[in-house]
Parts: sequence; C-alpha cells; structure tokens
Amino acid sequence: MDVNHLTTEEIPSSSSPGLLKNVQELAIDGEEPPPRYIRKDSDHKEKKQVPAHESLSVPIIDVSRLLPASSGREKEDEMEKLKSALNSWGLFQAIGHSIPKSLLDDINDVSKQFFDLPIEEKQRYTRSEEDEIVDLQGYGSDTIVSDDQVLDWSDRLYLLIQPQEQQKLRLWPDPPSHFRRTLNEYSVKAGSVAEVILKAMARSIGLEEYSFINQLGGQPMVYARFNYYPPCSRPDLVYGIKAHADGGAITILLQDPEVEDLQVLKDDQWISVPCMPGALLINVADQVQIMSNGIFKSPIHRVVTNKERERLYLAMFYGAKFDKEIEPTAGLINESNPRMFRKVKVKDYLEVFFPKYLLGERAIDWAKV
Ligand code: OGA
Ligand code: NI
Repeated sequence: MDVNHLTTEEIPSSSSPGLLKNVQELAIDGEEPPPRYIRKDSDHKEKKQVPAHESLSVPIIDVSRLLPASSGREKEDEMEKLKSALNSWGLFQAIGHSIPKSLLDDINDVSKQFFDLPIEEKQRYTRSEEDEIVDLQGYGSDTIVSDDQVLDWSDRLYLLIQPQEQQKLRLWPDPPSHFRRTLNEYSVKAGSVAEVILKAMARSIGLEEYSFINQLGGQPMVYARFNYYPPCSRPDLVYGIKAHADGGAITILLQDPEVEDLQVLKDDQWISVPCMPGALLINVADQVQIMSNGIFKSPIHRVVTNKERERLYLAMFYGAKFDKEIEPTAGLINESNPRMFRKVKVKDYLEVFFPKYLLGERAIDWAKV
C-alpha cells in the first residue's frame, strides 16, 4: 500500500474500524476527535499565547501608497514600513488594496455555499490519487505521508489558477453557480495586489522592481486554497493547521471577518492575528526568504480551533513556476551579507517542502548554504 497517495478517508482510524470521515462530518457527529488529530507537541505549554495588543500588533500597510501613481514622502514612509514589517513579522494586514468589499463578501459566500453542499456533492471534486504531492488539486483533507502524522482539523479545496492552461476545471465546483466566475474575478484582483507587493518589496530593499517577479518566471504560479475549519470539541488538543511556514513566494489570505483563530510566532510568542474586516493578510513565504537572502522572513503560523464556530479562509499562493531556479538576488550579497541560501530548483524545493509541512517540520534549512 502506498501511503503517499492515501487521503484521510481511506485510512482506517484507530478509534473506529471503518473509514475516516472528512473533518466536517466528524464535527457534525460531535465525536471526540480521533487520536490521529490530537497534537503531540507540548508547544502550547512552552510558549506564551498572547492576544494582539497595542505594542505588539500586526503591522498595517496601505497598499494604495505603494502604487506607481503615489509618490513623495507618503510613499517612502510606506515602503519603509513594508520593509520593516516583512523583516520583523513577515506579514501585514493590507488596507487600501482596492478590492471591493462586495467581491470579498461574494467570494466568502460562494466558498461557504460549497462547504455547505452535501458530502456526496463535494466528493465529486475529490482530488485524484495520481496527483503529485507538489500539485494537489481538488477537495479533501490532509494527505497522509506517515503513520505518525498529526492531522489537521480542516477540509480544503485546492485549485490551480495560473497558468490558466493547466487549470483542472472539472475540479472547480458548479454549483455553487457563481463559484467559477467569482473565483476568476477575485483572482484577477488579488493578482494585481500580489504584483504591487512583489514590486514594492524589491524596491524597498534597493532592487529593481521586477527582480523577484522575474525570478518567479514573469507570471507567477498561483494556487487558491479554500480552508474550512469546523468547530472542534477539543480545541485544547487539536489544531486547524499545525505550525508551518508557506512554501510559495507570498500568500494573500482572505480572513474570516469574525473568527480570530490564526496565530503567528513572533519573538517566541504566539500572537493572534486580529480580524480586520475588509483587509487582506499578506505574508512572505519561503521563496521570498530565499530570494531576499533572509531579509524578509517567512513567518511560522498556525490555526487553532474553537468549540462554537466554523471558520472559512481563502489563501492564494503565489510562487515560482516549477521549472524555475531561485536564489538570493545578486545585489543583496556582499562581504557583510554572505549568501544564506543555495540556488534551488522550485520543484525540488516543493518536493522537500510538502512532506515536511505535513509533518510539522520546516523545509527552508534544506536550502541553506
Ligand atoms: C495556509 C494557511 C491560514 C488560515 O493555508 O497556509 O496558513 O487561516 N491558512 O487558513
Ligand atoms: Ni500558511
């Protein structure tokens, strides 16, 4: 039996002899989470968990001030803020991004409609077992890579958006009737925000504005991941997503406007990311940490669970095309700033990244010189 290609539904659980259900069904039954979902670490005991507060709150960046049309002092200040936010936190809340609130509401609505469909309907979009681990698409929960793996309390729908000719439209739900149109519309808008941020990031550290985008291959590879977190009877024992950093270049998260379950590790403390309706949460991922030679940090983050409320998040991952090679940008390396990472082929990186991600381990050390 090749465990690399099993989805959770096919793994016999140790608490019941039958097949494992998707997490949404487990939650409906209100059962105690099966042993495979119980975290093993003592992480939550060792590190402090703190709500966001004044002195330690997630930075906020006004994207409109980073646009080419913007200029002068305001722009310089915002660039400086961006650089410092990504160096110390690796993420920020983006306001002024010009994606209309109505579109954010629409994309939240269609994703909710999808997860509200009967299980048989959703399973029409179940991912193929032949898919490579670096290119998972479709509906399902965690891919199993090891018997010891602790599973996440979430179900997902994973879709490649770009390059367009590689889309697998049979995995794009219909119904909900507006799902495809809304996702396309949101992808275009979020893609423009990603471009503004990637350019501003490069300029903020003295590079030519296209230097990151060029390394990604001009047009980045884009995946959308809809994350659904049902309520969980044991939030003290179960994570929505275990601690991880993202494997792309940057991630744009559309947060649930009301449930505050995302935490970021900063100075050895878990800090809650506050809900900020209308804002997007943007984080650096490993490829930017490599290309910026470590100036920008790919933050470790996780999702906790709660007893009462379900929660939806849409993550858009922007990264380099698989055949690209990325490395620290030449202009950033000198005697006082030695090269921190090797040149790596993106597909090789992701083949290391995904199994580690599923086991709660980091991949970035693999790319260090
Ligand atoms: C992710 C992620 C956060 C969330 O999908 O990589 O960190 O809140 N998601 O769903
Ligand atoms: Ni993440």
